[in-house]
Amino acid sequence: MQVAQANGMDIPTFCHHEALAPWSACRLCLVEVNEDGRTRLVTSCSFQVKSGISVTTENKSIRAIRKMIIELLLARCPNAQAVRQWLINWE
Ligand code: FES
Repeated sequence: MQVAQANGMDIPTFCHHEALAPWSACRLCLVEVNEDGRTRLVTSCSFQVKSGISVTTENKSIRAIRKMIIELLLARCPNAQAVRQWLINWE
């Protein structure tokens, strides 16, 4: 996440705070990491960058997953205005 942000890429976060150790609770910061021809989803707030990988921070699939995560968070906490605002901004 820090590398992406330092290069002007915007990755949505909900549970990340730079003053705290990565918790990886919300999963909203998911990105695709390709390593040795295999692609997997990782939480960018806790993933350690290394050489030989490529990272996709935004595509149709990632957006759909992030939207589903927000919807699940809202289902769990229907009165959470911050989560509701995320969903409104998403659509
Ligand atoms: S910001 Fe919540 S898991 Fe990364």
